[in-house]
Amino acid sequence: MPSGENDALAAANLLSAAVIADFSVHTLPPAEVCGRFIFAGRKAMEIKMFTSIILAAGMGTRMKSNMPKVLHKVCGKPLCRWVIDASTEAGADKVVTVIGHKADAVKEVLGDVCDFALQSEQKGTGHAVMQAVDFIKDAEGSVVILNGDTPLINAETIKKSLEYHNATGEQETVITAILPDSTGYGRIVRGADGGVLKIVEQKDASDEEKKIKEVNSGMYVFDAQSLVFALNKIQPNNAQGEYYLTDTLEILLKEGKKVGAFAIEDNDEIRGINDRVQLGEAEEIMRGRINEAHMRNGVTMRIPGSIYIAADVTIGNDPEIQPNVTLRSGTKIGAGCVIGQGSVLDGAVIHDNVDILSSVILNSEVGENTHVGPFAYIRPNCRVGEDVKVGDFVELKNSNIDDGTKISHLTYIGDSDVGKRVNFGCGTVTCNYDGKNKYRTTIGDDCFVGCNTNFVSPINVGNGAYIAAGSTITEDIPESALSIARARQTNKENWKKK
Ligand code: UD1
Ligand code: MG
Repeated sequence: MPSGENDALAAANLLSAAVIADFSVHTLPPAEVCGRFIFAGRKAMEIKMFTSIILAAGMGTRMKSNMPKVLHKVCGKPLCRWVIDASTEAGADKVVTVIGHKADAVKEVLGDVCDFALQSEQKGTGHAVMQAVDFIKDAEGSVVILNGDTPLINAETIKKSLEYHNATGEQETVITAILPDSTGYGRIVRGADGGVLKIVEQKDASDEEKKIKEVNSGMYVFDAQSLVFALNKIQPNNAQGEYYLTDTLEILLKEGKKVGAFAIEDNDEIRGINDRVQLGEAEEIMRGRINEAHMRNGVTMRIPGSIYIAADVTIGNDPEIQPNVTLRSGTKIGAGCVIGQGSVLDGAVIHDNVDILSSVILNSEVGENTHVGPFAYIRPNCRVGEDVKVGDFVELKNSNIDDGTKISHLTYIGDSDVGKRVNFGCGTVTCNYDGKNKYRTTIGDDCFVGCNTNFVSPINVGNGAYIAAGSTITEDIPESALSIARARQTNKENWKKK
């Protein structure tokens, strides 16, 4: 490392590593000891109670969006929800999100996954945390502060910084990163002994300070009561006239408290999202993480870089996901499925051993051993049973298709209840809409529907009925009947010659 500053930083990081290494050899504490423990192999580490405060009140002007920034999604999940989930996964006892800009919209999307504090005017990060002070003023243990626009933070990193914080006995631990280009971030200023002295914002930094590569991630671990103490002392004496949370560091140092920094390993984790370019980059990184986790879990992916899987999608054993597949939120894939090239599934529940090729399935369920596609379109609210075939250019909507039925080609079935083992000929259409209202078609078990049949609904077809090809069915068909509803053919002999 070239500068003295960076030597000091290296020394400080070695020190943190040593403290952690030392702490990690502590053995399992007795069961009656309060608190929770993180198990690392057979060793365990105590983590004190902690509250997470997530700052999410800002405008996010650079997104150029009507939607609050923190509600923009990465892999199907809102930015701030990633941060909330990471906190919860790390073991937070309470998560408080500070909201302001379009607070109601944020609250509505997040629902009851966390508590909320309102910052009606955005006067800086320190001011934002002050709005949540009611949640921590009587708290013991630690407070972790995170940003709502930093979705790539991992639960593991939050745990490690808490462990470091607890092991060192610091009152404030700033989570930092060393970036090749530190422009825009608050710089970590260290003294000759490597100790952290203060954080200087870009707008307040001298030319010398601007050269510092270690930056403030905007994430911190505090001792709860030291944070409350320091918040009361922050003043808006800076270039932006804001209450800077970063000032807590100097305030606590002045009080003789111990402060320090925990340098993160993976710089991606501190990426804040300010515009759509950064949103795209974060999505790319998250997509890679999600796909890697699925592959490690036994999912075969052909050309993983072309596959998009939302965060909440679940996949059973031994499936194959082919190129250019999109699996959106709410999708569940069973064991042994093949999701073929170019398929798009959104809120689809697919049971075991289903084979889907180049098809779209929206908010519907598909039973075991069923075959879908190529080029099938299953629209919302369908329930397709087991051993069904939904073949090429078949569209289903708001319909139930029972086990063993075959709908092989060029067919539209809407608002229908179809029984077991029905065979649809090519080009069947349910005429479910009269221009004003929609009606249902009900077809019993073991029916045979000839090619090019129209059902002018509402229609009921009894079990075992047989419909001649080219029929336009306008009346109910009783059980086991043959129905022919087409004009009788007449051949005019020698008509052309005449
Ligand atoms: C902050 C840090 C900076 C750090 C950077 C990391 C301060 C003074 N500076 O700067 O050292 O390097 O984050 O990304 O803290 N927010 C509110 N209410 C407010 C202001 C902000 O809720 O009044 C929220 C924002 O929505 C955002 C977070 O706090 O989620 C950070 O705010 P932002 O304005 O982006 O801070 P930076 O200037 O980037
Ligand atoms: Mg920022």
